[in-house]
Amino acid sequence: MTEMKADIMQMNRQPVLSGSNLNKTYHSGGRTVHPLQNVSFEVCPGEILGIVGESGSGKSTLLRVISGLECPDSGVLTYKGFHYHGYGPEKTGKFLQMIFQNAYGSFDPRMTMERSLREGSGADRQEILRMICEVGLTEDLLERKPRHLSGGQCQRMSIARALLTHAQILLCDEITSALDVTTQAQVIKLLTEVRAAEDVSIILVSHDLALVSMICDRIMVMQDGYIVDQGKTEDVINAPSDYYTRKLLNSIISV
Ligand SMILES: Nc1ncnc2c1ncn2[C@@H]1O[C@H](COP(=O)(O)OP(=O)(O)OP(=O)(O)O)[C@@H](O)[C@H]1O
Ligand SMILES: [Mg+2]
Repeated sequence: MTEMKADIMQMNRQPVLSGSNLNKTYHSGGRTVHPLQNVSFEVCPGEILGIVGESGSGKSTLLRVISGLECPDSGVLTYKGFHYHGYGPEKTGKFLQMIFQNAYGSFDPRMTMERSLREGSGADRQEILRMICEVGLTEDLLERKPRHLSGGQCQRMSIARALLTHAQILLCDEITSALDVTTQAQVIKLLTEVRAAEDVSIILVSHDLALVSMICDRIMVMQDGYIVDQGKTEDVINAPSDYYTRKLLNSIISV
């Protein structure tokens, strides 16, 4: 192996994104909730990290904190080793993009898809056409408004818009749960394809441990704001270190 190739491989092992000891507390209606408790993680270039855990365990809060939609109470966030604590979405949008469960709601209903894609990314028509093709859509859909697309088409449009910004990281929060099973599989396949073609890293939040275990390189299991299990997918699935992960796994097997 040449020295240069070894250097490149070494660089690729550096995390593109990391969080360390993240904490977040909410006070509402006289109650205190701790959705993030000393949460630390790393994502390497081109990696898909799955986050699973029951409802209320803190998954969406973690994505909102990573994206700058909310500030953690304490802890450190880095992109390529650079501290970005306190950045709002307008700044983090240069390197990461959120994809939401409700794709329709993430588009302006009055705009055509082409205008939304252009204004959301600054891309020209040629770049938009290339990306539309990459996500498996056709040019004619660009003239339509979001309500005239199917759920799957709209979700593909939101992935196209995110990729057009040249973001290195996609944060996906339950992006397939509003879709039928066949369309879910297509959108998930698309994620694995864009990871390979665009070399993006993906954090995929899902209730569905079976789905996550199919496509993720590593898995993080959250419970009550804590990471209770974390590791390579095969390790977490074959030898879960935590009781809660074993319970999640058993619930899949017994379905
Ligand atoms: N803005 C807020 N104010 C007060 N509490 C909040 C707020 N946002 C979230 N929470 C609480 O924080 C906890 C974690 O919520 P979060 O949305 O991160 O969970 P989740 O793992 O994404 O759940 P789900 O799987 O249902 O989407 C929950 O108890 C929730 O009620
Ligand atoms: Mg959530």
